[in-house]
Amino acid sequence: MAKKKEIRRIGVLSSGGDTPGMNAAIRAIVMVAEENGIETYGIRGGFRGMINGDIVHLDPSVVRTIAHKGGTILKTSRCPEFVEKEGQERAVQMAQAYDLDGVVTIGGDGTMRGAAALCALNIPTITLPGTIDNDLSYTDYTIGFDTAVSGVINEIIKIRDTMVSHDRIGVVEVMGNRCGDIALHAGLAGSMDYIILPEMEYDIDVMCAELKKKALKGHPTSMIVVAEGAAHGNEMAKYINSRTGLDTKSVVLGYTQRGGSPTARDRILAARLGQHAVRLLTSGVSNRAVGVRGDVVVDMDIMEALEKPKVFNRELYDLACTLVRQ
Ligand code: F6P
Repeated sequence: MAKKKEIRRIGVLSSGGDTPGMNAAIRAIVMVAEENGIETYGIRGGFRGMINGDIVHLDPSVVRTIAHKGGTILKTSRCPEFVEKEGQERAVQMAQAYDLDGVVTIGGDGTMRGAAALCALNIPTITLPGTIDNDLSYTDYTIGFDTAVSGVINEIIKIRDTMVSHDRIGVVEVMGNRCGDIALHAGLAGSMDYIILPEMEYDIDVMCAELKKKALKGHPTSMIVVAEGAAHGNEMAKYINSRTGLDTKSVVLGYTQRGGSPTARDRILAARLGQHAVRLLTSGVSNRAVGVRGDVVVDMDIMEALEKPKVFNRELYDLACTLVRQ
């Protein structure tokens, strides 16, 4: 039987769009590794840093108090060079030059593909779900999603205040790529009148007719949250105004959703998943995507995790609609 390779040094990188909680995950990885006598190296700027050998030792003292910080101390990038075989081979050479016995990646689906590529080239790799979008089907929640939703809700409160004062309609565009989860959760928690998502068909003319009817009955303010994957908030606001004559303003929340201190929920999730990633590597396990189902930390084959179709939470959507229709 082949002897399990001892893990002495691991690398960690963040990749793709940053997300609140990446630092909390980095901290957990370094600290849990340290407890097991493993040194951690930070690969700066995602897969690009791996290709370029931008790799630094992460002393526990550097990460001890970073869990509350937004962004990622390791920086991040979207790296098209790493999609090419040449880039991947160069990255593997660098991992070998730095004696990395394993790597933990933190990011979204692109990062997961990168992690799978490293595994195929014999670099043991574990990946953590780091994206505000919550668009990875194998895990109930991704790191950063809770913070993004909380941030959106705070903005909605402010936007509603001024829309009500001016008898206006407010359209709030949120991120999510092709996934409507940020809009759905913020829409429900923020009591939005309409939630426009890529997962659900909608008829803007029906909505316009309803908005006009409501205004005529003395309720001129309605709040609409629109996922970027479904429509552009600015265009929607213009269309509503042209069809109804109602004063309609739009706000694109943009990068405000990706920054800021992570919520307690995201910090705890990041810590638990980071710990699990190190445990997998020390047990000789590779090629796993770590996530959470219910309140249980789970892991599965990276490609299988990527292929799992995302299931839309129709029940939550129906509930959100019920809560504002009466
Ligand atoms: O994946 C996170 C995300 O913020 C998406 O919601 C958004 O569509 C995209 O990244 C924006 O990416 P970039 O920062 O590269 O413009």
